[in-house]
Amino acid sequence: MQIKQFFLFAAMSTSLLSLASNNDIPVYLDKGKPIDERVEDALSRMTLEEKVALCHAQGKFSSPGVSRLGIPELWMSDGPHGVRAEINWNDWGYANWTNDSITAFPALTALAATWNPEMAAIYGKNVGEEARYREKDVLLGPGVNIYRTPLNGRNFEYMGEDPYLAGEMVVPYIQELQKNGVAACVKHFALNNQEKWRGNINVKVSDRALYEIYLPAFKRAVQDGKAWSIMGAYNKVWDEHCCHNSRLLNDILRSEWGFDGVVVTDWGGAHDTRQAALNGLDIEMGSFTNGLTSESDFGYNDYYLADPYLDMIKRGEVPASTVDDKARRILRLIFRTSMNTDKPFGSVATPEHYAAAKQIGDEAIVLLKNNGILPLDPAQQRNILVVGENAIRPLNQGGGSSELKVKDMFTPLDAIRATYGNDVKFAEGYRTGRPMYDAEDIIPDAILDSLRSEAVAMAKNADAVIYIGGLNKNGFQDCESTDRREYNLPWSQDKLIEELAAVNPNLIVANISGNAYAMPWLDKVPAVLQSWYLGTMLGPSMADVISGRVNPSGKLPFSFPKKLEDNGAHHFGEVSYPGIEGTSAGNAVADLKGADVSAGNDPRQEYLEDIFVGYRWHDVKKIPALFPFGYGLSYTTFDYGKATLSSKEISADGSITITVPVTNTGNVEGKEIVQLYIQDEKSSLPRPIKELKRFKKITLAPGQTKEVTFTITPQDLKFFDDTKHEWIVEPGKFKAMIGASSTDIRTTLQFAYK
Ligand code: BGC
Repeated sequence: MQIKQFFLFAAMSTSLLSLASNNDIPVYLDKGKPIDERVEDALSRMTLEEKVALCHAQGKFSSPGVSRLGIPELWMSDGPHGVRAEINWNDWGYANWTNDSITAFPALTALAATWNPEMAAIYGKNVGEEARYREKDVLLGPGVNIYRTPLNGRNFEYMGEDPYLAGEMVVPYIQELQKNGVAACVKHFALNNQEKWRGNINVKVSDRALYEIYLPAFKRAVQDGKAWSIMGAYNKVWDEHCCHNSRLLNDILRSEWGFDGVVVTDWGGAHDTRQAALNGLDIEMGSFTNGLTSESDFGYNDYYLADPYLDMIKRGEVPASTVDDKARRILRLIFRTSMNTDKPFGSVATPEHYAAAKQIGDEAIVLLKNNGILPLDPAQQRNILVVGENAIRPLNQGGGSSELKVKDMFTPLDAIRATYGNDVKFAEGYRTGRPMYDAEDIIPDAILDSLRSEAVAMAKNADAVIYIGGLNKNGFQDCESTDRREYNLPWSQDKLIEELAAVNPNLIVANISGNAYAMPWLDKVPAVLQSWYLGTMLGPSMADVISGRVNPSGKLPFSFPKKLEDNGAHHFGEVSYPGIEGTSAGNAVADLKGADVSAGNDPRQEYLEDIFVGYRWHDVKKIPALFPFGYGLSYTTFDYGKATLSSKEISADGSITITVPVTNTGNVEGKEIVQLYIQDEKSSLPRPIKELKRFKKITLAPGQTKEVTFTITPQDLKFFDDTKHEWIVEPGKFKAMIGASSTDIRTTLQFAYK
């Protein structure tokens, strides 16, 4: 070889070699590169068709990747209390796999009732491991819609009536879940506070209520939890469906909060291609179904963000930059989840997961009343009778999309027998039929009467009766797609409880529900426990609290009004709840193509109670609740000492600390949830009497005292001034109210903001 040729060859091979080493790993596949660089690289290699394909479903719970480039698809699953059983590719039927049974974790209402962010972290970690094991990339939850009315069929999936409590609890759930390489999909954004007419009810709400009550938990989920995805709600707000609502998604979520994740529709929540293209929606799922049962013949290419979108881009009717933005976000989500090769492998239905579910359940149960009958000592010989269908019912069935196929379910009756012996007797007392979404099994009165008589007859001969009733996951109870029709307990339970109380003074009512209900029999029973849907470990948690092995430490995450009209949403009549029916009112979310969904025909609603939701309403109207927000008893008692302030003044860039000593004055170890509420004594706009700003759950041995310290900054004193569209704090006096519930304030301090 001549020298010149040699050099040419050598030069060529070096450049070929370096080319080869660069090209061996394209940037988008290079794990060492930052995600956004990889995303840009992937995007630059994709065709318009491939970008559009990312933006809509390919099956009931999956959306495509870019198979030509080896970019994997996304697999989603409900959410939020466990990983739902596999659904068929193309219809709502269950796929009947045999390897998809899981742990059911307590419902989110229960999680909120623990008032313990550590429990939220444990929850997120454990459910995340299960989602990962089941090879899911997106878990459809958690939900943080605010508890506005006790009739909302879906309150059990949310975290109560207070935005601060919900925000504190949602953040650790998301953070720990996402460590598994599984995205949270926080739902339902926003103002989906009832199920009745959920598909098209047109909500009107003031900016103050929006920013102070309904958005803060979502904002925390996005900014502090760093949620990778969020689900649009079914309903409309300001005449536009939430799944492509320009103000909610473009202005608030993206511009104000800087969300870098993906907006997914609720299933069947998209209704218009142009709005979907322009208003911040990224992935369209479940179109032309009602999200639960109904189907249509339309295929995935007919989706609003499929062929119709491609055509609009090609015709120049919407800019191609819209699809670049969506694809960029979706790729980011894919890189964070399905394409993340460093994620752990997960695990399912393990003893650790059961223990986590039990621990959360133990901390969630709320003791509402106790004349001393509880705890019921297992060492003492007694004839115990358990009454009520919820003692044996598989409560993970029904309820809508949160339904779970549990590997194991330990019922209250099983656990009570394990605690008190197999001779514990059982009477059904009432019967409710199968769980169905918007239909009911009608149980003939004759059957209900005979079940009640049987239970009452057995109660006469018992030393103690444990009543386990409440609501269940049937339609019109705690169930998606319908609201409750009455505030009282259904299936004649009030009558049953009254009759049981009349024949047996030792009646412990231990109800299970995700909602408040009336208690006309309260004065006649010695003890009331509020339990929730606690999933796999429901029975053991309940039995342990009843027997005293666990000292109850949950507090109510929402108020129990005495009667429905005492709740702010119900005070103003139908315009406020359920809304005024329009000509197209219906519960179906599916506007099968061509249906009239124009705004004028929709049911409409105004949130007239404004910022005064839950305890804020009870406070301002001076209407005592049956059981207030933040309330819950223990088998021990706590004494609050005098609180002290680090300073009597707080400046714009300063902070103050508030310290309160709390002592366990009883004989057993217990946990207390110390709550700090703030009152602005005088303000230019109306403000609540008090608002929860901090809380802390502490464990105290008998006789032990601990000091609880809270730090407050001017941020905590602000309200949303809608005229200026900003959070402001006005100089003046404030009160720090520290107590054991929203109405049990034990010590109050005053300070000034200068
Ligand atoms: C529900 C969502 C759920 C989705 C998928 C909808 O009906 O509103 O919360 O994630 O279905 O099952």
